[in-house]
Amino acid sequence: MENIEEKANKYLTKTSRALLNVEDYHQQAKQVLPQMIYDFYSTGSDDQLTLNDNLQGFRRLKLRPKILIDVSSHSTENSINCQTQLLNSTTIISFPCIIAPTALHRLANNEHGELATVRAAVACSTIMCVSTTASTRMELIAEEHRRHIKTNYPQSTSQLWYQLYVLKNRQHSQKLIERAEKCGYKALVLTVDHCHLGNRECDVRNNFSLPNGIQTENLIDDHDYDSEFAKAYRNTVPIDSSLSWKDLKWIQSITSLPLIIKGIIHPDDAREAIKQGIQGIIVSNHGGRQLDTCLSTIDALPDIMNAIRNEKHKIDVYIDGGIRRGTDILKAVALGAKAVLIGRPILWGLAVNGAQGAQNVMEILKKEFQLAMMLCGCRTIEDIIKNDLVVMNNRNNQSKL
Ligand SMILES: Cc1cc2nc3c(=O)[nH]c(=O)nc-3n(C[C@H](O)[C@H](O)[C@H](O)COP(=O)(O)O)c2cc1C
Repeated sequence: MENIEEKANKYLTKTSRALLNVEDYHQQAKQVLPQMIYDFYSTGSDDQLTLNDNLQGFRRLKLRPKILIDVSSHSTENSINCQTQLLNSTTIISFPCIIAPTALHRLANNEHGELATVRAAVACSTIMCVSTTASTRMELIAEEHRRHIKTNYPQSTSQLWYQLYVLKNRQHSQKLIERAEKCGYKALVLTVDHCHLGNRECDVRNNFSLPNGIQTENLIDDHDYDSEFAKAYRNTVPIDSSLSWKDLKWIQSITSLPLIIKGIIHPDDAREAIKQGIQGIIVSNHGGRQLDTCLSTIDALPDIMNAIRNEKHKIDVYIDGGIRRGTDILKAVALGAKAVLIGRPILWGLAVNGAQGAQNVMEILKKEFQLAMMLCGCRTIEDIIKNDLVVMNNRNNQSKL
């Protein structure tokens, strides 16, 4: 007789077979998550126009493939490797896709949370950007990252980045940066589109609150659990809305980590970031969770690339928001992005099947990306960049950039 576990595994194998793409994972996650948590993950601010436009932006862009190019050698894994260069250190990830910082992974997978995500990042040789509002201590995530590489994936080139919200209390922010640096995070990602929490009406309607036992572990870590301070951090994150360009100098003065700014949409801000000596930017509108009717990220990218094209100091430009298919990754790279970051797709994977689910989501995107490259006549990442593959139907300018 089969025991319950075997039955569950069989069921999972069966359903996993039907999970062919990111949207399949989304629909499955919707089935398994409690409504309040599903809404917290999936919805956006106000009328959710930006949330939807991030997705539609990619769909509006059309590809014009090149033909009669020998892509038979394309099965080599190395042809889709992506190289990021921050400060003097080069990182090679398996394809141009990184795990975006998202809060509270234990809401999707109570048992392992971020520890499951980090295993997926290691297995897929990619970067995981850990959120300030993670539900697992950053030291434990770093430890699991090292352990999993050593024990199971010695060839993995995975790395950890740390995402920072600057808190009202600058000393607490400084402590977070110091901890991240000490336990081996390789870059600091400063989120700048969050001077105040966006108007997320679903969360208000659901009276969203954290279930018992799940909290933003890094923020209360060093403080007495029952102190007023700890209680204040448990359900809200007191983000410093006075943060401005001049504060970047302070951050740069207290860390030697490369600094990446996440949340840039305006070309002037991209130029300013370069002036300030920033190493990378992420074109992002926080997945449509902050300012509604904000320009979609893929629509924002070309003007940003144009604005910084002639700057002497070259930086890596990343993009997130609405990436659900390999063709989306290809379009982003074709328009100048070094790599994309994915937020919700990883949460869907985690909710459906923990570390394995998150890994599956990455692998699906990788396969789709590889196929899209072949069908566009691209043998390497450089081919994607130089082949002028993207047509923008929604602009007067019908061609790339
Ligand atoms: C549930 C959820 C939580 C998020 N938490 C954070 C966070 O803690 N820090 C941050 O910089 N961005 C956060 N983001 C934004 C993501 O980093 C990313 O910009 C966005 O999810 C990309 O869009 P996508 O979900 O369509 O891939 C969050 C997004 C979601 C959906």
